[in-house]
Amino acid sequence: MVAHMTKKAIILAGGAGTRLYPLTQIACKQLLPIYDKPMIYYPLATLMLGGLREVLIISTPKDLPMIRGLLGDGARLGMRIEYAEQPKPAGLAQAFVIGADFVGNDSVCLILGDNIFYGKLDFFRDALRLVGMDGGACVFGYQVKDPERYGVVEFGADGRAISIEEKPTKPKSPFAVPGLYVYDNEVLQIARDLKPSPRGEFEITDVNVEYLRRQNLHVRVLGRGMAWLDTGTQQSLLDASNYIAAIENRQGLKIACLEEIAFAQGFIDRAGMQRCIDAIPKSPYREYLELVMGEAR
Ligand code: G1P
Repeated sequence: MVAHMTKKAIILAGGAGTRLYPLTQIACKQLLPIYDKPMIYYPLATLMLGGLREVLIISTPKDLPMIRGLLGDGARLGMRIEYAEQPKPAGLAQAFVIGADFVGNDSVCLILGDNIFYGKLDFFRDALRLVGMDGGACVFGYQVKDPERYGVVEFGADGRAISIEEKPTKPKSPFAVPGLYVYDNEVLQIARDLKPSPRGEFEITDVNVEYLRRQNLHVRVLGRGMAWLDTGTQQSLLDASNYIAAIENRQGLKIACLEEIAFAQGFIDRAGMQRCIDAIPKSPYREYLELVMGEAR
């Protein structure tokens, strides 16, 4: 395998979203608003800020057309966005079976369509570089009050990860594993060989446990300056919206504004940005982009 920076990413936007009923009767969770944008903008922005331009979005047959209608083929953002269906919500690890052709011989990042990260993303860029160059896998640990709701990583005295458990009733640490993972190409075979868990799903935690067993798993703790926001319940959805609103209104800057990021990252030039603006209806969002362009003059 040729070693290079990880370039490909999968956004998994599946799941039944039953806990958010009746909101999820209208659209899938990942299309619900987080303040002023659809939720999926945030994980897509995270990928773009990591320099990733080739993205596969996996969702249910019902929701995929809506997501495609929103984001298209990515060309206007200087990206390549592809789509694939997950017929049933059979677990996160299935992303690598569905996305095997897309991944090809490369390393790959997986981000969950309902995970919101805010803060300095150096940790993410480092992980993309590390796995792209040296192989293995890189996942993260983030201290939370309610680790039993997540994958939980336990660290030994030397700071190395010693166990990872999915939604344990008695968590061995307060460190949840966020829905952002970077894997070398081995992940395709590991995902193919998985057996379903007791809840009948192909668990991403089982993929991580396999990398741990092979002594090929890096786990990096995200510092206190990082926000990893949850969107799993009505209350946390509102909290996430309020968080984004507080920062955007304080600074007058938008979080996860895809066109702004594409421009800043050099995915599109001024003409490309102008084409984006021309296609956006008169709205505060459009005014914001015009401001960004004006200031970049
Ligand atoms: C999934 C993973 C879990 C991870 C979480 C992050 O949980 O199974 O390990 O910590 O995402 O959002 P789920 O969203 O399926 O409950």
